[in-house]
Amino acid sequence: MTAFQTILIVGATSGIGEELARQYHARGKNVIVSGRRTARLDTLAAQLPGVGIIQMDIQDLGALPRQIDEAFITFPAIDAVIVNAGIQILLDYTADNASTIGYPTTADITKEITTNLTGPTVLARCVIEHFRVSRPSQASLLAFVTSGLGLVPVTMLPIYCATKSALHYFTVILRNQLKNTAISVVEILPPYVKTELDVAHADEMAKRLGGKKPQGMSVKEYVASVVRGLEVTEMDGKIQKYVAEGMPRAAVEAWVQAVGPMAQMLHTDL
Ligand SMILES: NC(=O)c1ccc[n+]([C@@H]2O[C@H](COP(=O)([O-])OP(=O)(O)OC[C@H]3O[C@@H](n4cnc5c(N)ncnc54)[C@H](OP(=O)(O)O)[C@@H]3O)[C@@H](O)[C@H]2O)c1
Repeated sequence: MTAFQTILIVGATSGIGEELARQYHARGKNVIVSGRRTARLDTLAAQLPGVGIIQMDIQDLGALPRQIDEAFITFPAIDAVIVNAGIQILLDYTADNASTIGYPTTADITKEITTNLTGPTVLARCVIEHFRVSRPSQASLLAFVTSGLGLVPVTMLPIYCATKSALHYFTVILRNQLKNTAISVVEILPPYVKTELDVAHADEMAKRLGGKKPQGMSVKEYVASVVRGLEVTEMDGKIQKYVAEGMPRAAVEAWVQAVGPMAQMLHTDL
C-alpha cells in the first residue's frame, strides 16, 4: 500500500472526491475532506469516524493561503493533497444573446476558470510551501484531477476543456520544477464517470452528440482504479505521473510519444 497516510481531498462533497474519501477511510487512512457544501461535509463527518473537515471555496483566492495554513496547523501530518474540485459549464459562443442556453457570460467564464485552473494553481503554491517545511525530504503527494477532455476536446465545453488542458500542462511543468524534491506531482485523468458534474446539461449534451447518452463508469469502480493507480511507482521511487485508463490513458500515451522527444529538447520531461 502507498506510504501516504493523511490525505486532504479538495472537492470531496460528491462524486469522485467523496468516493476517494470513503475508499481511503475504509483503508484506514486519515482523511480530511473539503468543499463548499457544509451539510455534505457534516454528513461525511457523521458517516466516517475521525474524518477531518475544512470548508473551502477554491474560487476564494484571497482566503486560500489562510485556509491551507489552517489545514496544515490542524492536521500537520498531511502528506498527500488531491486537488479534485471542478465544475463543468456548457457554453456556446454562437449564442447571440444572454437568454440563449449556454450564452458565455463573463460570470460563468470566470467561475469555471477560477475553479478549474486559477484556484488549483494557487493552492499548489500554498501546499508546496507547507510540504517544504513539514516534509523537507519525506515523500509527499500533490495530485490534480484533470480530464480526458483536456487532451481530447468536446465542442460544447470550450472553457472546461481549455482549463483541463491548461491544468494538464501545469502539472507537467510543476513536476519538472519539483523533480529534485520528494513531492510526487501526479495527474489523474478520469474518463466519463457518473457523478453530479454534468447533471445540469447531460441531456442537452446527449442531444447535441446525436441523441445518444454516453455510458458513464460507476464512481466506485473508477475510484478503486485511482486508488490502485496511486500505488504505482516509477524508477525514481515517485508515484507514476499519470493515473489513467481507457481513453485518457491512450490519449496521454499518444501525446507523450508524439511530443516527448521535442519536449526533451527543452529539458522538459513528459
Ligand atoms: N465525472 C466525470 O465524468 C469527470 C471526467 C473527467 C474529469 N472529472 C473531474 O473530476 C473532478 C470531480 O468531479 P466529479 O465528476 O466528481 O463531479 P462532482 O460530483 O460535481 O464533484 C465536484 C466536487 O468539486 C467540488 N467543488 C466544485 N467547486 C468548488 C469550489 N469552488 N471550491 C471547492 N470545491 C469545489 C464540489 O464541492 P462543493 O460543490 O461542495 O464545493 C464537489 O465536491 C472534477 O475536477 C472534474 O472536472 C470528472
